[in-house]
Amino acid sequence: MAKLNINSKYRMPSGYEIPVLGYGVYQTPADIASDVVQHALKVGYRHVDSAVAYRNEQPSAEAMKKSGIPRDELFFTTKIPPRQMTYDNAKKHIKNTLQVTGFDYVDLYLLHAPYGGKENRIGAWKALVEGVEAGKIRSIGVSNYGVHHLDELEGWIKSVDEKHGKCKGGVISVNQIELHPWLARKDIVEWCQKRGIVVEAYSPLVRATKTQDPLLLPLAKKYEKTTSQILLRWSLQKGFVPLPKSVTNSRIEENAQIYDFELSDEEMKKLDTGVYEPCAWDPTVSHD
Ligand SMILES: NC(=O)c1ccc[n+]([C@@H]2O[C@H](COP(=O)([O-])OP(=O)(O)OC[C@H]3O[C@@H](n4cnc5c(N)ncnc54)[C@H](OP(=O)(O)O)[C@@H]3O)[C@@H](O)[C@H]2O)c1
Repeated sequence: MAKLNINSKYRMPSGYEIPVLGYGVYQTPADIASDVVQHALKVGYRHVDSAVAYRNEQPSAEAMKKSGIPRDELFFTTKIPPRQMTYDNAKKHIKNTLQVTGFDYVDLYLLHAPYGGKENRIGAWKALVEGVEAGKIRSIGVSNYGVHHLDELEGWIKSVDEKHGKCKGGVISVNQIELHPWLARKDIVEWCQKRGIVVEAYSPLVRATKTQDPLLLPLAKKYEKTTSQILLRWSLQKGFVPLPKSVTNSRIEENAQIYDFELSDEEMKKLDTGVYEPCAWDPTVSHD
């Protein structure tokens, strides 16, 4: 595994780069989002994962501007809301994101979840493709897509490319899914990694429910790290882009200190034995 550091990036199928560590702002209240994002940027994060549904695109973007870091060194992700997956809604949200953030472009725009049926999923994707063609978005992707949703989108892209030319159907750069040792989604990961699609790991800390887990505690002791750092390291070594969320300054710092140790192959395998425990809301297993 190549040596990673806080400035490491992966190249996406779009040709653009994505910082390997992201900072998630789900459930971060809008009135504190600017402060916590500024802290994250101060300690080295360069990638913020927001969404229209999180209602904090504006303060997150404000923090990015206030940081004084050049725009092209920062990476901003947002998402079309799960229950608003239509062409018209997606067009409206792309326009609105640019308006509220004041950005000239969005680095990564995702479809938040595969809801709404095939026609609407494809419709929303078409709006993202048009956003790229218009220079409003750099890279596009999906979130919570299972293999059947990915097959559906890939099939549609291929048919458009055959008819109208390469890349006319858009390029899937990212699939953002819940990923940790208890939810490894090997089928989805393999589908994406085979194609060079970047896999982003959401809820990489299992929402702080495994801090005392017996699978993690011995490793935390051995490496003098916290169990959260062990989980993030697992994610990095899997080749994922983890998106830890915290509104606590000390934890924001802790979650970025994951580059000075390496889990062995044996330890990685042991962590892979985590048992699948899907959360109640798991759209990757829906079949609409
Ligand atoms: N695409 C999707 O559908 C989707 C769904 C869920 C999440 N996401 C993305 O993934 C990001 C992370 O997911 P998540 O927020 O569900 O879960 P998470 O990052 O696994 O866990 C966040 C929880 O862990 C706590 N925490 C953070 N660092 C910690 C540490 N070092 N030690 C102990 N506790 C710690 C946080 O508390 P404090 O904040 O109080 O410090 C918070 O309660 C989101 O913010 C979002 O960007 C995407």
